Amino acid sequence: MRLEAARFNISLMTDSSKHRVIFDTDPGVDDAMALCFAMAHPHIELVGITTVYGNVTVPQATTNALYLTQLAARSISVAQGASQPLVKHGEAPPDFIHGADGLGNLPSRIASSGAKADRRSAAQFIVDMARASPGQITLVPVGPLTNIAAALALEPKLPQLIKSISLMGGTIKEGGNVSPVAEANIWNDPHAADAVFTAGFDLTMIGLDVTYKVVIPVSLFEKLAAKHEHPLLHTLLHAVRFYAKFYATRYPDLKANPGCFGHDVLAFIALLHPELFSFSQGRLRCVTEGIAQGQTILHDRLSMDFPQAGFGAEIPLSQAAITVNVPSVLKIFEDTLTANWLPA
Ligand code: BDR
Ligand code: CA
Repeated sequence: MRLEAARFNISLMTDSSKHRVIFDTDPGVDDAMALCFAMAHPHIELVGITTVYGNVTVPQATTNALYLTQLAARSISVAQGASQPLVKHGEAPPDFIHGADGLGNLPSRIASSGAKADRRSAAQFIVDMARASPGQITLVPVGPLTNIAAALALEPKLPQLIKSISLMGGTIKEGGNVSPVAEANIWNDPHAADAVFTAGFDLTMIGLDVTYKVVIPVSLFEKLAAKHEHPLLHTLLHAVRFYAKFYATRYPDLKANPGCFGHDVLAFIALLHPELFSFSQGRLRCVTEGIAQGQTILHDRLSMDFPQAGFGAEIPLSQAAITVNVPSVLKIFEDTLTANWLPA
C-alpha cells in the first residue's frame, strides 16, 4: 500500500527541469515552426495549445494545431479561442503570407485521427490550468493577445497564478510590419495587448527588434526533411517554402538566400536561453486607437517623471528583448529539430 502511494506521488511530481507551457497560437507557418521546436525540445512540456484568429481563421488554426500534433504523434489538448479582436473589427487573414490553409496551401493532408478540440474555450482552459497548477504554467502567446485578455477577464488573479509570459509581438526600436510602428500580432488586438501588458504578469516581449535579426534558411528545412522521411517534416518544408517566397518579394537578401524570419520560435528560445538576449526593462503600453494603433511603447527611462499619464508606477515593469545572439539561436533551433524527436 505504501509502495502504491509512493508510486502515485512520483507520477504526480513534475519535472522541474521542464517549462510547463500553454502555447497560444494562430498557425501559421512560423507558428508551425515554433510548435515543432516546442514538441522537439526536451525542456518544454506542452500542457496545452490554445488557438486564436490571426494568420488564419480560428477554426483553421485549431485544425492546423490538431493536424501538426497528430503528425508528431503527440496527444496535446487543443482549446479553440477567440475568432475576433476584443474591440476593433477583425481583418481578413493574410493568405498571401501563410496560404489560405495557414500551411502554405498543402496539396493534401493525411486522414484525421479524429482527435477533437477540448470543449472549453481557450480562455477557460488557460484559467483552469493556472488554477490547477498555480505558479507553474508559462504562457507563450505568438498571435493576437485576445485569449490572454479574455482569460484575465475570467480570472483577474491570473497574473499571480501564471508563472510568466514569453510572447512574440510588438517592436520597440525596429519599425513595424503592418504600419510604420505596429507589429501584426499586437496590431490585431491592441486593446487586448494593453490589458495584458498592464495586468501585472511577469512578462517578456520578444518583438521585431530581435525576430527580424534571425533568418532561418529554407535549406535547413530541406536538410531535415532529407535526413528523416517524415510527413511532419515534409509538411513543414512545404509551408516554409511558401512563406519564404513571400519574404523574397519583400527583402532582396532573402531572394538570393531563401529563408524566413524566426518570429514565433524566438518566444520559446528566449524562455529557454535568456542569456542569448539583452533586454530593456520598463513600463510597457500599447496604443489602442488612431494612426499609431498597435504601437508598443516601453518607458525604460524610469527616473524620468513625465507629466503625461499612463506610464507611472501603477504600470508594472515588463521586459522587451532588444538584441539577440543570432548564431547561437540558429544552432539551438537546428540542433533541437535534428535530434531524434519524431516517431519512426
Ligand atoms: C507575427 O505575426 C504573424 O504573422 C506571425 O505568425 C508572427 O506571430 C509576426 O509579426
Ligand atoms: Ca503567430
